[in-house]
Order: sequence, then structure tokens, then C-alpha cells
Amino acid sequence: MNLAVFASGRGSNFLAILTAIDSGLLPARVTLLLSNKSDVGAIEAARGRGIPTLHLSQTMFDSEDAFADRMIAELAAHRADLIALAGYLKRIPRRVVAMYCNRIVNIHPALLPAFGGPGMFGHHVHEAVLASGVSTSGATVHLVDEEYDRGPILLQKTVPVLPDDTAETLAARVLTVEHEIFPLALKAFAEGRVRVEGRTARIE
Ligand code: GRF
Repeated sequence: MNLAVFASGRGSNFLAILTAIDSGLLPARVTLLLSNKSDVGAIEAARGRGIPTLHLSQTMFDSEDAFADRMIAELAAHRADLIALAGYLKRIPRRVVAMYCNRIVNIHPALLPAFGGPGMFGHHVHEAVLASGVSTSGATVHLVDEEYDRGPILLQKTVPVLPDDTAETLAARVLTVEHEIFPLALKAFAEGRVRVEGRTARIE
């Protein structure tokens, strides 16, 4: 299974995917690393592995359609079967979502549907979790549709929220389970074990 990975930052989820591939856990290959930034850790990591990288952002185009066309052309050129959003902070153009229906997965650092949606990324998520007073948080892998963090949920894993947690300590605890469940969800795709029925999805 050919994976296109989209990332906007340091890329620790991208590295977790590469580790899962190297260990034989994940029967896939990364054929493209796309970022809306030109100089982030994920791009450096891809370059170091000889994985094709692409800096592409909406600001380079005068319309969403032109941006979507170029993204679709690049995905086709790299024969992507599945798109993995690994810390990617931009919305996916509608036409890309339509073309890769149920073939775009995202990792979110909270237990969706709670603590998701526009603006809910990075430390904002963990601050909201702490402010809410809940005693459990975690990570979610879900299919991507046109809205942020709304598509069918595939896999979740919880972590405790501790009384003395800060956004940083909670983020670090959640990140460890992100690195566990994202490769497992991708493995299910690679092995044909993902079933989507309407707005629900499950792994067999
Ligand atoms: C992770 O917490 C991920 O859940 C969120 O963005 C953060 C980026 O992590 N989407 P990394 O770039 O994969 O290290």
C-alpha cells in the first residue's frame, strides 16, 4: 500500500509510521511527504530517507480548485493509495476529499467527537481538556471529510489526565498513544480490514 503522508510540523507521527514500516508491522511504503511548510522536521526526516517531499500550500495558488488540481496530480504521480495526515494543520480541499473518499486518515490528540473542530490543534486541545476537568483523554484516528475532525472514527486509545498535568505533560502522554494507534489503523487499511458503513467505520 502506497502512503502519502501530510505533515506541518516536527513529524513524530511520520517517524512512528516509518518505524512501523521498518519493523515489518506496517506493510506499506511512503511514496510522498507533503507539507504546507518548507522547512519542518517531517521534511528533513523524509529527505534523510530518500522519500520524495513536496512543499505545497493554498497560498501558492489563486483558487482552491487550482490547489486541489495540483495536489491530486501529485498524489496520482506518487501512486498514493491512502493519505495519512500526520500533524497536518490545513483543511483538505473538497475535491481531494471526494476523490480519496474514505482513504484519508487523521490522528487527533483527543477523544473525538469531544475537543475537536476548528482551532482544536496542538496545545489548544490539551488546554481545553484540562479546563474541562475530565479525568481521561487520549487519541483518535478517524477518516477525514470536508470538516475538521468530523469523519467516522476508526480507533481510539485513552490516557489518564493527572491532577498536576500541564498541557505539555498531557500532550506528551497523548503523543505516546498516537504513535501506537496511527500505525495500527494504517496496518488495518493495508490489510483490507477497514469497513465503512455510512458515518461509522470499524476495523475487523
Ligand atoms: C500531534 O499531536 C497530532 O495529534 C496533531 O498534531 C501533533 C503533531 O505531531 N495532529 P507530530 O508533528 O506528528 O509530531
